[in-house]
Amino acid sequence: RKVVLAYSGGLDTSVILKWLQDTYGCEVITFTADIGQGEELEPARAKAKMFGVEKIYIEDLREEFVRDFVFPMFRANTVYEGEYLLGTSIARPLIAKRLVEIAQREKADAISHGATGKGNDQVRFELGAYALMPNVKVIAPWREWDLLSREKLLAYADKHGIPVDFKKRKGGAPFSMDANLLHISYEGGILEDPAAEPPAKGMWRLTVPVEKAPNKPEDVELEFVRGDLVAINGQKMKAHELLAELNRLGGKHGVGRLDLVENRYVGMKSRGCYETPGGTVLLRAHRAIESLTLDREVAHLKDDLMPRYASMIYNGYWWSPERRALQVLIDHTQEPVSGTVVVRLYKGNVIVVSRKSANSLFDMRISTFEDDAGAYDQADAGGFIKLNALRMRIAAGKRGAGASA
Ligand code: ARG
Ligand code: SIN
Repeated sequence: RKVVLAYSGGLDTSVILKWLQDTYGCEVITFTADIGQGEELEPARAKAKMFGVEKIYIEDLREEFVRDFVFPMFRANTVYEGEYLLGTSIARPLIAKRLVEIAQREKADAISHGATGKGNDQVRFELGAYALMPNVKVIAPWREWDLLSREKLLAYADKHGIPVDFKKRKGGAPFSMDANLLHISYEGGILEDPAAEPPAKGMWRLTVPVEKAPNKPEDVELEFVRGDLVAINGQKMKAHELLAELNRLGGKHGVGRLDLVENRYVGMKSRGCYETPGGTVLLRAHRAIESLTLDREVAHLKDDLMPRYASMIYNGYWWSPERRALQVLIDHTQEPVSGTVVVRLYKGNVIVVSRKSANSLFDMRISTFEDDAGAYDQADAGGFIKLNALRMRIAAGKRGAGASA
């Protein structure tokens, strides 16, 4: 038996690696991806080798992550429960896809991951894996073993000679973190009390506090082609480079911090802090270019569907038929969404100050407050309003003149 493990090189997945070898007596193949978490990957290779792992996959998936997952999601202006930009949720389908691709190539029959039995991530990994490899076996150690506390995990590590430097939580933090090019999330530990403010120091890593942001605003021009960002300040770059640059610009101006209580798919509430500087800028700018180029009903239809699309991604249904179908519709709407937007970044704010498009539906001749020289006949509006009022006039008439409700 062979199992492909999503391996970060951290304490949890290192204990899992050892535990899989001991409990299942199987060959473990490790898979470690760079999705912009800002960590060296070579230590993960060295650690896997120490456990006698022979097949070690280490891949740079940054471009694919942003081009094929983040950007398609932003075409829909996707936000979960009004606030969360889905930074972790959107990375899981890519990891799931690579896990099963490697499993198929290596003729492994199982995959394994380090997500707990209480969260969303297990659902996302596994729904994705089953959708792409129907007979795959899933080993989720957190749902099987009894190492349910940090102390037990550390004791297991000690007993099995897992070295000390494996034991640090990512960055030595007193909370759990998940980082990629779109965001960093902070959950658990000292954040578990929703009434307790997140620590001012030692947590946020991508953004400066608003008080420390520059006193001078900075204007940034974003160019879109068919709904996707293609250039910043006239400079064309690859998808992941664009997002990294937006993170830098947003972070510098304190844009994109969020502290919220959200509803997990498994039924519990959880408190999370997120920083998504580039994504916050991108969402604003994308809505601005759509405001010029989308038909009203198409825009409203997208807005109606967006929360459902967000739930599909949050709940782990990226590889489902309903998400794929919705994506076709969303992508179709993006055909005219090209042009440039200028946003002003200032002390945590993203202020749209200009938008321009060759496909603009904004007709100055018609919209003007000045004399439109007959482009629009104001007399038409009288009948439009009267017919729209007809049912209310009939009802009011039945209630008798002067009735108020
Ligand atoms: N609550 C967020 C989500 O469900 C973030 C999850 C963070 N995951 C993690 N393994 N630390 O998308
Ligand atoms: C986890 O449980 O592994 C992290 C939190 C989540 O998946 O929601």
